Amino acid sequence: MRTQVAIIGAGPAGLLLSHLLHLQGIESVVLESRTRAEIESTIRAGVLEQGTMDLLNDCGVGVRMRAEGALHHGFELAFDGRRHRIDLLGLTGKAITVYAQHEVIKDLVAARDAAGGQMFFGVREVALHGADTDTPAVSFEHGGQALRIDADFIAGCDGFHGIARPAMAQQGRQDYQRIYPFGWFGILVEAPPSAPELIYARHERGFALVSTRSPTVQRMYFQCDPKDSVDNWSDDRIWSELHARLENREGWRVTEGKIFQKNIVGMRSFVSTPMQSGRLFLAGDAAHIVPPTGAKGMNLAVSDVRILARGIEQFYRQGSDERLQRYTGDALKRVWRAEYFSWWMTSMLHTFDDASPFQREVQRAELENVVASRALATALAENYVGAF
Ligand code: FAD
Ligand code: DHB
Repeated sequence: MRTQVAIIGAGPAGLLLSHLLHLQGIESVVLESRTRAEIESTIRAGVLEQGTMDLLNDCGVGVRMRAEGALHHGFELAFDGRRHRIDLLGLTGKAITVYAQHEVIKDLVAARDAAGGQMFFGVREVALHGADTDTPAVSFEHGGQALRIDADFIAGCDGFHGIARPAMAQQGRQDYQRIYPFGWFGILVEAPPSAPELIYARHERGFALVSTRSPTVQRMYFQCDPKDSVDNWSDDRIWSELHARLENREGWRVTEGKIFQKNIVGMRSFVSTPMQSGRLFLAGDAAHIVPPTGAKGMNLAVSDVRILARGIEQFYRQGSDERLQRYTGDALKRVWRAEYFSWWMTSMLHTFDDASPFQREVQRAELENVVASRALATALAENYVGAF
Protein backbone atom coordinates (compact mmCIF):
# COMPACT_ATOMS: atom_id res chain seq x y z
CA MET A 1 0.00 0.00 0.00
CA ARG A 2 1.18 3.56 -0.67
CA THR A 3 0.16 6.95 0.68
CA GLN A 4 1.67 10.38 1.03
CA VAL A 5 1.55 10.68 4.84
CA ALA A 6 1.33 7.70 7.20
CA ILE A 7 -0.16 8.87 10.50
CA ILE A 8 0.27 6.83 13.68
CA GLY A 9 -2.49 7.49 16.24
CA ALA A 10 -6.12 8.59 15.96
CA GLY A 11 -6.15 11.14 18.76
CA PRO A 12 -6.91 14.81 18.14
CA ALA A 13 -3.45 15.30 16.55
CA GLY A 14 -3.57 12.38 14.08
CA LEU A 15 -7.19 12.78 13.02
CA LEU A 16 -7.02 16.55 12.58
CA LEU A 17 -3.78 16.28 10.63
CA SER A 18 -5.39 13.73 8.31
CA HIS A 19 -8.39 16.02 7.83
CA LEU A 20 -6.30 19.17 7.20
CA LEU A 21 -4.16 17.31 4.65
CA HIS A 22 -7.27 15.99 2.91
CA LEU A 23 -8.57 19.56 2.54
CA GLN A 24 -5.31 20.32 0.68
CA GLY A 25 -5.69 17.27 -1.56
CA ILE A 26 -2.97 15.32 0.29
CA GLU A 27 -3.58 11.64 1.01
CA SER A 28 -2.95 10.00 4.35
CA VAL A 29 -3.64 6.75 6.19
CA VAL A 30 -4.31 6.70 9.95
CA LEU A 31 -3.24 3.71 12.08
CA GLU A 32 -4.77 3.37 15.57
CA SER A 33 -4.12 0.60 18.07
CA ARG A 34 -7.46 0.99 19.87
CA THR A 35 -10.94 0.37 18.49
CA ARG A 36 -13.10 3.16 17.12
CA ALA A 37 -15.55 2.63 20.01
CA GLU A 38 -12.71 3.07 22.52
CA ILE A 39 -11.33 6.29 21.09
CA GLU A 40 -14.84 7.68 20.79
CA SER A 41 -15.62 7.08 24.47
CA THR A 42 -12.39 7.75 26.41
CA ILE A 43 -12.97 10.67 28.79
CA ARG A 44 -10.18 13.25 28.63
CA ALA A 45 -9.92 16.97 27.98
CA GLY A 46 -12.74 19.45 27.83
CA VAL A 47 -11.50 22.97 27.13
CA LEU A 48 -11.00 24.27 23.59
CA GLU A 49 -9.13 27.54 23.15
CA GLN A 50 -10.47 30.19 20.81
CA GLY A 51 -7.85 29.26 18.18
CA THR A 52 -8.84 25.58 18.37
CA MET A 53 -12.52 26.48 18.02
CA ASP A 54 -11.73 28.73 15.04
CA LEU A 55 -9.70 26.03 13.30
CA LEU A 56 -12.39 23.35 13.82
CA ASN A 57 -14.98 25.77 12.47
CA ASP A 58 -12.84 26.83 9.52
CA CYS A 59 -12.19 23.25 8.47
CA GLY A 60 -15.85 22.27 8.63
CA VAL A 61 -15.93 20.07 11.74
CA GLY A 62 -17.36 22.60 14.20
CA VAL A 63 -21.09 22.10 13.68
CA ARG A 64 -21.75 19.90 16.72
CA MET A 65 -19.21 21.81 18.82
CA ARG A 66 -21.16 25.03 18.17
CA ALA A 67 -24.49 23.36 18.90
CA GLU A 68 -23.56 21.22 21.90
CA GLY A 69 -20.44 22.84 23.36
CA ALA A 70 -20.75 25.59 25.95
CA LEU A 71 -19.14 28.92 25.17
CA HIS A 72 -17.56 30.39 28.33
CA HIS A 73 -16.54 34.03 28.60
CA GLY A 74 -14.77 33.65 31.93
CA PHE A 75 -13.83 31.32 34.77
CA GLU A 76 -13.33 31.66 38.50
CA LEU A 77 -10.41 31.36 40.88
CA ALA A 78 -11.54 30.40 44.39
CA PHE A 79 -9.38 30.68 47.49
CA ASP A 80 -9.69 31.71 51.13
CA GLY A 81 -13.45 31.28 50.96
CA ARG A 82 -13.94 33.75 48.10
CA ARG A 83 -14.56 33.39 44.37
CA HIS A 84 -12.98 35.78 41.87
CA ARG A 85 -13.96 35.97 38.22
CA ILE A 86 -11.37 36.11 35.44
CA ASP A 87 -13.19 37.90 32.63
CA LEU A 88 -11.64 36.19 29.61
CA LEU A 89 -13.72 38.09 27.07
CA GLY A 90 -13.28 41.48 28.72
CA LEU A 91 -9.54 41.03 29.20
CA THR A 92 -8.67 39.40 25.87
CA GLY A 93 -11.66 39.65 23.51
CA LYS A 94 -11.59 35.86 23.32
CA ALA A 95 -13.42 32.92 24.88
CA ILE A 96 -13.21 29.15 25.31
CA THR A 97 -15.64 26.32 24.58
CA VAL A 98 -16.20 23.40 26.92
CA TYR A 99 -16.70 20.42 24.62
CA ALA A 100 -15.39 16.94 25.43
CA GLN A 101 -12.33 15.67 23.57
CA HIS A 102 -14.08 12.42 22.62
CA GLU A 103 -16.79 14.47 20.93
CA VAL A 104 -14.08 16.22 18.86
CA ILE A 105 -12.76 12.74 18.04
CA LYS A 106 -16.23 11.60 16.90
CA ASP A 107 -16.57 14.68 14.68
CA LEU A 108 -13.15 14.12 13.10
CA VAL A 109 -13.65 10.38 12.54
CA ALA A 110 -17.03 11.14 10.93
CA ALA A 111 -15.40 13.73 8.65
CA ARG A 112 -12.65 11.29 7.60
CA ASP A 113 -15.24 8.58 7.02
CA ALA A 114 -17.44 10.86 4.92
CA ALA A 115 -14.43 11.76 2.75
CA GLY A 116 -13.47 8.10 2.30
CA GLY A 117 -10.32 8.55 4.41
CA GLN A 118 -8.44 5.38 5.25
CA MET A 119 -8.27 4.52 8.95
CA PHE A 120 -7.17 1.21 10.42
CA PHE A 121 -8.37 0.61 13.99
CA GLY A 122 -7.10 -2.14 16.30
CA VAL A 123 -3.69 -2.35 14.61
CA ARG A 124 -0.82 -4.28 16.29
CA GLU A 125 2.97 -4.47 15.96
CA VAL A 126 3.35 -1.02 14.41
CA ALA A 127 6.99 -0.46 13.36
CA LEU A 128 8.68 2.37 11.46
CA HIS A 129 11.26 1.81 8.72
CA GLY A 130 13.67 4.16 6.96
CA ALA A 131 12.52 7.31 8.74
CA ASP A 132 15.90 8.87 7.93
CA THR A 133 15.52 8.13 4.20
CA ASP A 134 13.23 9.65 1.53
CA THR A 135 11.26 6.41 1.39
CA PRO A 136 9.93 5.77 4.91
CA ALA A 137 7.44 2.99 5.62
CA VAL A 138 5.28 1.63 8.40
CA SER A 139 4.55 -2.06 8.95
CA PHE A 140 1.70 -3.35 11.14
CA GLU A 141 -0.78 -6.14 11.71
CA HIS A 142 -4.47 -5.73 11.11
CA GLY A 143 -7.08 -8.46 11.46
CA GLY A 144 -4.32 -11.10 11.49
CA GLN A 145 -2.76 -9.77 8.28
CA ALA A 146 0.74 -8.28 8.03
CA LEU A 147 0.56 -4.98 6.11
CA ARG A 148 2.99 -2.28 5.04
CA ILE A 149 2.48 1.31 3.97
CA ASP A 150 5.12 3.16 1.97
CA ALA A 151 4.89 6.92 2.41
CA ASP A 152 6.67 10.23 1.86
CA PHE A 153 6.30 11.24 5.51
CA ILE A 154 5.41 9.62 8.83
CA ALA A 155 3.57 11.61 11.50
CA GLY A 156 3.99 10.25 15.03
CA CYS A 157 0.71 11.33 16.67
CA ASP A 158 0.62 8.33 18.99
CA GLY A 159 0.63 10.03 22.38
CA PHE A 160 3.08 9.90 25.27
CA HIS A 161 3.39 6.08 25.33
CA GLY A 162 3.62 5.64 21.56
CA ILE A 163 6.35 4.08 19.45
CA ALA A 164 7.25 7.10 17.30
CA ARG A 165 9.32 9.05 19.82
CA PRO A 166 11.57 6.08 20.69
CA ALA A 167 12.05 5.57 16.91
CA MET A 168 13.54 9.06 16.46
CA ALA A 169 17.29 9.42 15.96
CA GLN A 170 18.66 9.40 19.50
CA GLN A 171 21.76 11.45 18.83
CA GLY A 172 21.24 15.08 19.83
CA ARG A 173 17.90 14.42 21.52
CA GLN A 174 17.10 16.33 24.65
CA ASP A 175 14.19 15.61 26.96
CA TYR A 176 12.96 17.97 29.66
CA GLN A 177 10.77 16.61 32.42
CA ARG A 178 9.15 17.41 35.74
CA ILE A 179 6.94 14.91 37.53
CA TYR A 180 4.55 16.37 40.12
CA PRO A 181 4.00 14.62 43.44
CA PHE A 182 0.22 14.57 42.96
CA GLY A 183 -2.46 13.54 40.47
CA TRP A 184 -6.05 14.43 39.66
CA PHE A 185 -9.05 12.38 40.71
CA GLY A 186 -11.70 12.95 38.02
CA ILE A 187 -15.42 12.21 38.24
CA LEU A 188 -18.40 12.44 35.92
CA VAL A 189 -21.66 13.23 37.64
CA GLU A 190 -25.31 13.22 36.62
CA ALA A 191 -26.34 16.65 37.87
CA PRO A 192 -27.12 20.14 36.63
CA PRO A 193 -24.18 22.60 36.50
CA SER A 194 -23.16 23.89 39.93
CA ALA A 195 -22.08 27.25 38.54
CA PRO A 196 -22.22 29.03 35.16
CA GLU A 197 -18.42 28.94 34.70
CA LEU A 198 -15.46 26.70 35.61
CA ILE A 199 -14.09 27.10 39.13
CA TYR A 200 -10.40 26.46 39.91
CA ALA A 201 -10.05 26.27 43.70
CA ARG A 202 -7.02 26.35 45.98
CA HIS A 203 -7.52 24.96 49.50
CA GLU A 204 -5.23 23.70 52.26
CA ARG A 205 -6.64 20.20 51.61
CA GLY A 206 -5.67 20.47 47.93
CA PHE A 207 -6.82 21.76 44.56
CA ALA A 208 -10.34 21.22 43.19
CA LEU A 209 -11.87 22.00 39.79
CA VAL A 210 -15.55 22.24 38.93
CA SER A 211 -16.09 21.82 35.20
CA THR A 212 -19.02 20.76 33.08
CA ARG A 213 -19.96 18.62 30.11
CA SER A 214 -23.62 19.35 29.44
CA PRO A 215 -26.76 20.60 31.17
CA THR A 216 -27.08 17.14 32.77
CA VAL A 217 -23.49 15.88 33.13
CA GLN A 218 -20.75 17.57 35.16
CA ARG A 219 -16.98 16.98 35.30
CA MET A 220 -15.03 17.59 38.51
CA TYR A 221 -11.48 16.97 39.62
CA PHE A 222 -9.55 17.14 42.87
CA GLN A 223 -5.87 16.80 43.68
CA CYS A 224 -4.97 13.36 45.03
CA ASP A 225 -2.08 10.98 45.59
CA PRO A 226 -1.25 9.67 42.09
CA LYS A 227 -0.80 6.17 43.58
CA ASP A 228 -4.21 6.19 45.25
CA SER A 229 -6.97 3.89 43.94
CA VAL A 230 -10.49 4.93 42.98
CA ASP A 231 -11.67 2.00 45.13
CA ASN A 232 -10.62 3.93 48.23
CA TRP A 233 -13.08 6.69 47.38
CA SER A 234 -16.77 6.08 48.11
CA ASP A 235 -19.19 8.62 46.65
CA ASP A 236 -19.74 10.05 50.15
CA ARG A 237 -16.03 10.53 50.69
CA ILE A 238 -15.69 12.28 47.32
CA TRP A 239 -18.53 14.70 48.05
CA SER A 240 -17.31 15.56 51.51
CA GLU A 241 -13.81 16.22 50.12
CA LEU A 242 -15.19 18.43 47.35
CA HIS A 243 -17.43 20.35 49.77
CA ALA A 244 -14.46 20.89 52.10
CA ARG A 245 -12.19 22.18 49.35
CA LEU A 246 -14.87 24.41 47.84
CA GLU A 247 -16.05 25.94 51.16
CA ASN A 248 -16.81 29.64 50.80
CA ARG A 249 -18.36 32.57 52.60
CA GLU A 250 -21.30 32.89 50.20
CA GLY A 251 -22.79 29.55 51.20
CA TRP A 252 -22.47 28.29 47.61
CA ARG A 253 -22.21 24.49 47.37
CA VAL A 254 -21.38 22.16 44.53
CA THR A 255 -24.49 20.23 43.43
CA GLU A 256 -24.26 16.50 44.17
CA GLY A 257 -25.48 13.80 41.80
CA LYS A 258 -24.90 10.22 40.76
CA ILE A 259 -21.18 9.64 40.12
CA PHE A 260 -20.86 7.33 37.11
CA GLN A 261 -17.15 7.51 36.30
CA LYS A 262 -14.01 7.82 38.45
CA ASN A 263 -10.38 7.95 37.34
CA ILE A 264 -6.95 9.07 38.54
CA VAL A 265 -4.28 10.63 36.32
CA GLY A 266 -0.68 11.48 37.18
CA MET A 267 0.78 14.85 36.29
CA ARG A 268 3.94 15.73 34.46
CA SER A 269 5.56 18.39 32.32
CA PHE A 270 7.59 16.93 29.47
CA VAL A 271 9.15 18.19 26.24
CA SER A 272 11.19 16.06 23.84
CA THR A 273 13.29 17.80 21.18
CA PRO A 274 13.72 17.90 18.27
CA MET A 275 10.19 17.10 17.05
CA GLN A 276 11.48 15.86 13.70
CA SER A 277 14.02 13.35 12.52
CA GLY A 278 14.39 12.84 8.78
CA ARG A 279 10.91 12.15 7.38
CA LEU A 280 9.40 11.45 10.82
CA PHE A 281 7.55 14.27 12.63
CA LEU A 282 6.07 14.15 16.14
CA ALA A 283 2.92 16.06 17.10
CA GLY A 284 0.88 16.41 20.30
CA ASP A 285 1.45 14.28 23.40
CA ALA A 286 4.01 12.17 21.50
CA ALA A 287 6.37 15.15 21.83
CA HIS A 288 5.20 16.97 24.94
CA ILE A 289 2.95 16.72 27.99
CA VAL A 290 1.55 19.42 30.24
CA PRO A 291 -0.18 19.03 33.60
CA PRO A 292 -3.92 19.54 32.94
CA THR A 293 -4.35 22.64 35.15
CA GLY A 294 -3.93 25.05 32.23
CA ALA A 295 -6.22 22.99 29.90
CA LYS A 296 -3.57 23.09 27.18
CA GLY A 297 -2.81 19.50 26.08
CA MET A 298 -5.38 19.02 23.34
CA ASN A 299 -4.92 22.60 22.17
CA LEU A 300 -1.19 22.05 21.74
CA ALA A 301 -1.86 18.91 19.71
CA VAL A 302 -4.07 21.04 17.45
CA SER A 303 -1.51 23.83 17.07
CA ASP A 304 1.29 21.33 16.26
CA VAL A 305 -0.65 19.74 13.42
CA ARG A 306 -1.74 23.10 12.06
CA ILE A 307 1.96 23.98 11.65
CA LEU A 308 2.89 20.53 10.36
CA ALA A 309 0.06 20.48 7.80
CA ARG A 310 1.25 23.83 6.41
CA GLY A 311 4.77 22.48 6.05
CA ILE A 312 3.62 19.35 4.24
CA GLU A 313 1.38 21.44 2.00
CA GLN A 314 4.32 23.67 1.06
CA PHE A 315 6.38 20.59 0.24
CA TYR A 316 3.80 19.28 -2.25
CA ARG A 317 2.70 22.67 -3.64
CA GLN A 318 6.05 24.39 -4.01
CA GLY A 319 8.54 21.56 -3.73
CA SER A 320 10.13 23.35 -0.77
CA ASP A 321 10.86 21.86 2.65
CA GLU A 322 11.65 25.22 4.19
CA ARG A 323 8.64 25.15 6.55
CA LEU A 324 9.16 21.49 7.40
CA GLN A 325 12.76 22.25 8.35
CA ARG A 326 11.46 24.94 10.72
CA TYR A 327 8.78 22.70 12.26
CA THR A 328 10.49 22.01 15.59
CA GLY A 329 11.35 25.66 16.18
CA ASP A 330 7.92 26.95 15.17
CA ALA A 331 6.00 24.38 17.22
CA LEU A 332 8.22 24.64 20.29
CA LYS A 333 7.70 28.38 20.70
CA ARG A 334 4.06 27.76 21.52
CA VAL A 335 4.79 24.52 23.36
CA TRP A 336 7.16 26.20 25.82
CA ARG A 337 4.75 29.04 26.53
CA ALA A 338 2.05 26.48 27.29
CA GLU A 339 4.53 24.49 29.40
CA TYR A 340 5.25 27.65 31.37
CA PHE A 341 1.57 28.50 31.81
CA SER A 342 0.60 24.95 32.84
CA TRP A 343 3.44 24.83 35.35
CA TRP A 344 2.42 28.26 36.70
CA MET A 345 -1.27 27.33 37.13
CA THR A 346 -0.28 24.02 38.70
CA SER A 347 2.19 25.62 41.14
CA MET A 348 -0.23 28.37 42.10
CA LEU A 349 -3.23 26.17 42.81
CA HIS A 350 -2.01 22.84 44.26
CA THR A 351 -0.76 22.07 47.75
CA PHE A 352 2.78 20.73 47.97
CA ASP A 353 3.38 18.51 51.00
CA ASP A 354 6.93 19.76 51.37
CA ALA A 355 6.02 23.47 51.17
CA SER A 356 7.23 25.57 54.09
CA PRO A 357 4.79 27.96 55.83
CA PHE A 358 6.60 30.76 53.97
CA GLN A 359 6.00 29.12 50.59
CA ARG A 360 2.32 28.61 51.42
CA GLU A 361 1.82 32.28 52.25
CA VAL A 362 3.67 33.36 49.10
CA GLN A 363 1.43 31.06 47.06
CA ARG A 364 -1.67 32.70 48.56
CA ALA A 365 -0.19 36.15 47.92
CA GLU A 366 0.37 35.22 44.29
CA LEU A 367 -3.31 34.43 43.86
CA GLU A 368 -4.22 37.69 45.62
CA ASN A 369 -1.98 39.51 43.17
CA VAL A 370 -3.53 37.82 40.14
CA VAL A 371 -7.07 38.77 41.10
CA ALA A 372 -6.12 42.26 42.32
CA SER A 373 -4.04 43.27 39.30
CA ARG A 374 -5.67 43.75 35.92
CA ALA A 375 -2.23 43.30 34.34
CA LEU A 376 -1.65 39.90 35.96
CA ALA A 377 -5.24 38.77 35.36
CA THR A 378 -4.82 39.75 31.70
CA ALA A 379 -1.62 37.73 31.41
CA LEU A 380 -3.40 34.73 32.89
CA ALA A 381 -6.44 35.20 30.63
CA GLU A 382 -4.28 35.60 27.49
CA ASN A 383 -2.54 32.34 28.25
CA TYR A 384 -5.77 30.54 29.09
CA VAL A 385 -7.56 31.47 25.85
CA GLY A 386 -4.33 30.84 23.93
CA ALA A 387 -3.85 34.38 22.66
CA PHE A 388 -0.15 33.92 22.00
P1 FAD B 1 -3.66 11.08 22.22
O1 FAD B 1 -5.00 11.69 22.44
O2 FAD B 1 -3.00 10.37 23.36
O3 FAD B 1 -3.78 10.11 20.98
C1 FAD B 1 -2.78 9.18 20.63
C2 FAD B 1 -3.44 7.98 19.98
O4 FAD B 1 -2.42 7.11 19.50
C3 FAD B 1 -4.27 7.17 20.96
O5 FAD B 1 -5.58 6.98 20.44
C4 FAD B 1 -3.51 5.85 21.10
O6 FAD B 1 -4.37 4.74 21.28
C5 FAD B 1 -2.78 5.77 19.76
N1 FAD B 1 -1.56 4.96 19.80
C6 FAD B 1 -0.64 4.87 20.78
N2 FAD B 1 0.34 4.02 20.43
C7 FAD B 1 0.05 3.57 19.19
C8 FAD B 1 0.69 2.68 18.29
N3 FAD B 1 1.84 2.09 18.60
N4 FAD B 1 0.11 2.43 17.11
C9 FAD B 1 -1.06 3.03 16.77
N5 FAD B 1 -1.71 3.89 17.58
C10 FAD B 1 -1.16 4.17 18.78
N6 FAD B 1 -6.04 19.03 27.17
C11 FAD B 1 -6.66 20.21 26.89
O7 FAD B 1 -6.34 20.85 25.90
N7 FAD B 1 -7.68 20.71 27.67
C12 FAD B 1 -8.08 20.05 28.77
O8 FAD B 1 -9.02 20.50 29.40
C13 FAD B 1 -7.41 18.82 29.11
N8 FAD B 1 -7.79 18.11 30.20
C14 FAD B 1 -7.25 16.88 30.40
C15 FAD B 1 -7.73 16.16 31.46
C16 FAD B 1 -7.21 14.91 31.70
C17 FAD B 1 -7.75 14.15 32.89
C18 FAD B 1 -6.22 14.33 30.82
C19 FAD B 1 -5.70 12.95 31.05
C20 FAD B 1 -5.76 15.05 29.76
C21 FAD B 1 -6.25 16.32 29.54
N9 FAD B 1 -5.81 17.07 28.47
C22 FAD B 1 -6.39 18.31 28.25
C23 FAD B 1 -4.77 16.57 27.61
C24 FAD B 1 -5.28 15.97 26.30
O9 FAD B 1 -6.25 14.99 26.56
C25 FAD B 1 -4.11 15.41 25.47
O10 FAD B 1 -3.10 16.38 25.42
C26 FAD B 1 -4.54 15.03 24.05
O11 FAD B 1 -5.27 13.84 24.05
C27 FAD B 1 -3.33 14.86 23.12
O12 FAD B 1 -3.74 14.42 21.86
P2 FAD B 1 -2.81 13.53 20.94
O13 FAD B 1 -3.57 13.30 19.69
O14 FAD B 1 -1.46 14.11 20.87
O15 FAD B 1 -2.61 12.17 21.75
C1 DHB C 1 -11.27 20.25 32.14
C2 DHB C 1 -9.98 19.76 32.17
C3 DHB C 1 -8.94 20.58 32.51
O1 DHB C 1 -7.69 20.12 32.53
C4 DHB C 1 -9.16 21.92 32.79
O2 DHB C 1 -8.11 22.71 33.12
C5 DHB C 1 -10.43 22.42 32.74
C6 DHB C 1 -11.50 21.58 32.41
C7 DHB C 1 -12.38 19.35 31.79
O3 DHB C 1 -12.11 18.17 31.56
O4 DHB C 1 -13.53 19.80 31.75
